[in-house]
Amino acid sequence: MLPVIGTLRPWADPTLLQLGRLPMHVPLDAADRLALDGPWQLEMFERPDAVPATAITGRRRRAVEVAVPGNWTMQDLGTFSDPPWYTNVQMPFPGPPPLLPERNPTGVYRRSFTLTHAWLRRRSLVHIGGAESVHAVYVNGTFVGYGTDSRLPSEYDITSHVRQGRNELAIVVVKFSAHSYIEDQDQWWMGGLHRSVWIEHRAPVRIADLPVTTDYDPASGAGSVAVTTTVEVGGDPAAGWTVRTTLRDPRGKRVGRPDEQPVPDAHRRPYEFHGFRVIARWELSRATPWSAESPARYTVTAELIDPAGDVAQVETQLVGVKRVEVRDRQLLVNGRAIWIFGVNRHDHHPDRGKAVTVDDIRDDLLAMRAHNITAIRTSHYPNDAVFYDLCDELGFYVVDEANIESHAYNRSLCDDPTYRSAWVDRGARMVQRDRNHPCIILWSLGNESGYGDNHDALAGWIRKADPTRPLHYEDAIRIDGWVDGGLTATDVVCPMYPEIADIQAYGDSAGTRPLIMCEYNHAMGNSNGSLSDYWHVITTTPGLQGGFIWEWKDHGLRQTLADGTVRLAYGGQFGESPHDGNFVADGLMSADLEPHPAMHEVAWVHRPVTVTATRGGLRIENRQSFAGLGALKARWELFVGGEITRRGSLRVPPVEPHGSVTIGLPVERPERASTDVQLTVRWELRADTWFAPAGHVVAWDQIELRAPRRTGRSGVETARTDRSSRAAIDQAAIDQVAPVLHLRRAPIDNDGFKLMPELGRRLRVGGRSMERWQDIGLDTVDPESLVDHEMTRRVDGTGTVFRHVVDVPDELTDLPRVGVTFPVPARFRSLRWFGRGPHESYPDRRGAATLGIWDAEPDESPYLVPQEFGLRTDCRWLELVDADGAVMRIDVVMPASLHMSATWHTDDDLADAATATELHRRDHLTVNIDVAHRGVGTASCGPDTLPQYRLAAGRYEFAYRISV
Ligand code: GAL
Ligand code: MG
Repeated sequence: MLPVIGTLRPWADPTLLQLGRLPMHVPLDAADRLALDGPWQLEMFERPDAVPATAITGRRRRAVEVAVPGNWTMQDLGTFSDPPWYTNVQMPFPGPPPLLPERNPTGVYRRSFTLTHAWLRRRSLVHIGGAESVHAVYVNGTFVGYGTDSRLPSEYDITSHVRQGRNELAIVVVKFSAHSYIEDQDQWWMGGLHRSVWIEHRAPVRIADLPVTTDYDPASGAGSVAVTTTVEVGGDPAAGWTVRTTLRDPRGKRVGRPDEQPVPDAHRRPYEFHGFRVIARWELSRATPWSAESPARYTVTAELIDPAGDVAQVETQLVGVKRVEVRDRQLLVNGRAIWIFGVNRHDHHPDRGKAVTVDDIRDDLLAMRAHNITAIRTSHYPNDAVFYDLCDELGFYVVDEANIESHAYNRSLCDDPTYRSAWVDRGARMVQRDRNHPCIILWSLGNESGYGDNHDALAGWIRKADPTRPLHYEDAIRIDGWVDGGLTATDVVCPMYPEIADIQAYGDSAGTRPLIMCEYNHAMGNSNGSLSDYWHVITTTPGLQGGFIWEWKDHGLRQTLADGTVRLAYGGQFGESPHDGNFVADGLMSADLEPHPAMHEVAWVHRPVTVTATRGGLRIENRQSFAGLGALKARWELFVGGEITRRGSLRVPPVEPHGSVTIGLPVERPERASTDVQLTVRWELRADTWFAPAGHVVAWDQIELRAPRRTGRSGVETARTDRSSRAAIDQAAIDQVAPVLHLRRAPIDNDGFKLMPELGRRLRVGGRSMERWQDIGLDTVDPESLVDHEMTRRVDGTGTVFRHVVDVPDELTDLPRVGVTFPVPARFRSLRWFGRGPHESYPDRRGAATLGIWDAEPDESPYLVPQEFGLRTDCRWLELVDADGAVMRIDVVMPASLHMSATWHTDDDLADAATATELHRRDHLTVNIDVAHRGVGTASCGPDTLPQYRLAAGRYEFAYRISV
């Protein structure tokens, strides 16, 4: 039993949120700080009741050295074992709440610190940035306090427990608590002190909080800044203290005069007294507003002046003047609608788990911004304070989410009075810490916790404490529907994984709130189908403003196996049970920050400017809310038969934010009718920015000036022209090519969960295609026995033409593909093609991939769990090139284009491998040519591939010429 708490078992009691913890406040900066990050001693116990008093003060018997910040689950604990544990909805132990498991790893962190005499004349606080899940603090053996909420800091006054010289700090962290039931997010269960710890030195009379409220009137350009300085007097307030508050504009110029007011005296008029608070207010006739597009910040300085006239404390806050409101079915920032080009972001690092550094966060933000992601939902808990500083500075819109998710007990805890105070406290403490950040546009009441009284209690608190921001809570709209559901708890309609038809229907409804998808387009494996279909509807339907893709990064954890193999592990690979497998790997980026191919599509659907064809011209639309296009330079390129034949700069008149202009084509349509012609317009940064150098392409569109001809004759002609300059045909090499009918694909996560077929049923998510195809025998029987297939092969002077007619019977509607596959001689190792590129694309994810002639090495498998990858859609030809430059060429004869890929793996190789490290290259490439390929969709969590990207039954005809 933990000493001093006596017979209380606070970790097991959901009503006990804190003991001795100081009130939350906005982060303050001017204190003397003694950093305690670095090595600590950690001794692990099987459960909190097993921690002896001697563990807090006595000899450290089995302690190991670990890093703080750090998760102990990611560090070497010697003989004690507590690896990461992944579950999604289910709890890792049986309930019901608040029951806890018999084994409940508990760590006693210890280290010493030294205080000089000067420190002792002042107050000392200990700051604990984040502890999963609950913690108790001891100084020199004495119990100081207890706190809950793994994702917000806790502070304790330790003044009366410290002494001059060496002091002993012990922090006991209990992994599972009654609060774990409301921290049941879809992520790894970790443990330990994952954020910074420090000791702070404070004067007895001090500035304890400094909330700033701003407003901006878009009609007049006026703004206001109101600063509330809360002074803690620590006992009887002496008269004569004052607060001087100063405001500086974004250029550093002082605004008006400093405000100087006495700190009120409580005793004179107790009835009127509302705290030791001084409120300073500025009206700005012309304010410089903050937005993500132009993140201008004002500087507030508050000085606490003692009765002798000396400055005792100085605090600075960087704030933004802005207004967020919901009006006319729109979420407006400074009076303008904004597009939510968003992602959901978890704190995650492959080696450190939840202990992300400032550099990790900055790396995430940089990669986001470079891919046109400008909004973040902090799924599903508040981040380290530095995250919001960076978003303020660099310009991101943030939905700040309270650390509340009771997914396994989705419908009960939200009405459970024993959890009521936890609900309110978690949300309120988040608001109290983060309220000064201009980046925050919505407060989120948490995730997947049903909708109950506890939510409305929290919503009420926030609405009173911060009327300047609307609320966001997904589950509230499920009760009574999107139009009227949960009006008290959410000001936006924020569904997860809706069908496109449903968001469109909401747009056509009488709903009064804007619709912003809190999660959509699940990025698990080869996924993110129909992003452009979503954005087509979003940008053409009133009331829709975008959403947050699920999710930023895979949560793979780096793991070294006994044989030395290093891999990024997913659920179950640490031997934990129960677990939810690779459902934890569903990011646009790999865990170590490599973009997955779909990231190109994300950047493209989020592009700040679009170009579309009009009759005879180009329509240019600026999708930004505040900026013109002046920072961008537009260039065009004319592609004829895949070759760039002309290029130039595009002269564009000024385009207002949310405005558009129409201009003429920069070039005449070429007369030559025999090949296809495209115009590409690319928008580059004129100057270096924090996220990319000058020249970085932020937007692009390709416009079809002349469609390829249906007969495919163009392919033949191109082949002939090229051939004249080449050596004689190597008929022997062609004769080795034996295309076989190809109807299957190695299952992508959206087809079904190949590693855990039961997972989908348990989670009530996931595609059923894989099972359907297995039932047909697609992976096992000869495809010739399933469909009628006729292949003819004709040798002529330019190569060999293969012609296929495939009749798919009705009962085989919705196959993965119709095409052929064949290995090629091992000497052909690099690729060149005329089709979409340069990256992989699929029929429902090909907006970003433009038509052209591309050169590349074959792709490496980009996904954590091997699956179908590497397709290039709409190819006119593909060349496989050997080291001497000899070429095997595949020209499409009919229809106008085919989808192709060439990888080092067969379907079986990909289907059989459970992790990337089990996948080995063959010594030759396998080529796939498809006349049709099913779109990838997002069925692992969300809508399946749309009907227009599925394969109908009926006749498929295609032909191609192979020459060497
Ligand atoms: C949502 C949930 C996320 C994640 C996602 C699936 O339901 O809010 O936390 O679990 O599904 O990856
Ligand atoms: Mg969940």
